[in-house]
Amino acid sequence: MEQIIIFDTTLRDGEQSPGAAMTKEEKIRIARQLEKLGVDVIEAGFAAASPGDFEAISEIAKVIKTSTVCSLARASENDVRRAGEAIKHAAKGRIHTFIATSKIHMENKLRMSEDQVVERAVQAVKWACEYTEDVEFSAEDAVRSEVDFLVRVFEAVIEAGAKTINVPDTVGYSIPSVWGERMAELIKRVKNSDKVVWSTHCHNDLGMAVANSLAAVMNGARQVECTINGLGERAGNASLEEIVMAIKTRSDLFNLGTRIDTTQIVPASKLVSTITGYPVQPNKAIVGANAFAHESGIHQDGVLKHRETYEIMRAEDVGWGANKLTLGKLSGRNAFRTRLKELGIELESEDALNAAFARFKELADKKSEIFDEDLHALVNDEVVQDTAELFKLVYLQVASQTGEIPHAILTLNRDGMEQRAEATGGGPVDATFKAIESVVNSAAELLLYSVNNITSGTDAQGEVTVRLSKGGRIVNGQGADTDIVVASAKAYLNALNRLYVKPEKLNPQV
Ligand code: KIV
Ligand code: ZN
Repeated sequence: MEQIIIFDTTLRDGEQSPGAAMTKEEKIRIARQLEKLGVDVIEAGFAAASPGDFEAISEIAKVIKTSTVCSLARASENDVRRAGEAIKHAAKGRIHTFIATSKIHMENKLRMSEDQVVERAVQAVKWACEYTEDVEFSAEDAVRSEVDFLVRVFEAVIEAGAKTINVPDTVGYSIPSVWGERMAELIKRVKNSDKVVWSTHCHNDLGMAVANSLAAVMNGARQVECTINGLGERAGNASLEEIVMAIKTRSDLFNLGTRIDTTQIVPASKLVSTITGYPVQPNKAIVGANAFAHESGIHQDGVLKHRETYEIMRAEDVGWGANKLTLGKLSGRNAFRTRLKELGIELESEDALNAAFARFKELADKKSEIFDEDLHALVNDEVVQDTAELFKLVYLQVASQTGEIPHAILTLNRDGMEQRAEATGGGPVDATFKAIESVVNSAAELLLYSVNNITSGTDAQGEVTVRLSKGGRIVNGQGADTDIVVASAKAYLNALNRLYVKPEKLNPQV
């Protein structure tokens, strides 16, 4: 069966979701999981965005062996050379360069003529070819570009050496029949179109990213750009899990395959959600908690008699239930280390391992069954707390009782100095946040507060996401604990740490 190339851009376009910025270590963990999942190309970032992004791509290029590692680059010499340097250690490396081709972008954003855009695109592809044979070119805002101009640009970049031609619906404007036709027309009209792989990259502003991507596939695209959980700019990108499962489940229509190990989908979804702080809605296809839950009695009865009456996929085929009960109270340090390794988690030092093991023992005292998700959350929390540069939680006491006003007392370590604070609030979390603010005085706006249980049961760890906004910057903070008020305090402090210390980085589309 002919294979579709799955190009995952969770670490680049996904990271452009408000507050989803990831650290190098977090990106490496996700990259390892993407490799395990079997994605063909991992877009690891935008090398020119910041020194941190450059370093993350270089590290990923060193550790990933089976997937191609790609860096995005605007069509400028500096960007392309940074991308080339970042992927130089990759077993298989790609440079993905792009420039906008719609009138609205060329006139208002780039302030360049059509001729200048073609010239720059060709030049960027030629610079990229100095580093790798695997060069991808994207015509940003192809959806609102004139087809004649797209044909001209694509012919020129193919001539210059591009091997993959990506057609993005940057603003999520298309609908499936139109997008399919556009792909078919380009493939038909562009000279040497059979020498390249045609790709599609769809945003979800009208909720049609997956449908549009599949329409492109039906019309000749052989690479789909997508993200785990559909994370991405604004309403997000096409979701990898939906694309892959649609192609697999409806192979009668597509007659195509992918290299994806579908049993790794749910673990990948949970990891990305834990790290970015973007919860998955319960009714999300494939990876939502209710995706395989049957509420109505008639459905339950049908499924018990014959599963296919109401199920078109098997939960276990996408990785539900794959979460192993891995460790317990009596597990030793070696078993802990081995399981972390199997999960692709490598702690930087013996000290970090010892600290994580101590946290694991504490958790095992409170929670009898420890699952893989618990280990991911625990390590995430450990790294988050450990790398906290300004504020750390030292102590928290919260009193909450019917008929009384909730009251929080806490001690924070602020840049090496301990400070005590207390406050009352509408609830225990509100009181805790107010106590923290009385020390920090950030005046940041709280955009989101959400709690999710990591596994089932009332002894599960709660995973809290806090999204803060200040001076135009948006950050997410995470915290995990069996006590959700403690998890909330950690998440709030994590967001503050990101707000105060994280350097700004460049957005490729600006
Ligand atoms: O949406 C878009 O156009 C992009 C390009 C950089 C491929 O993300
Ligand atoms: Zn995009």
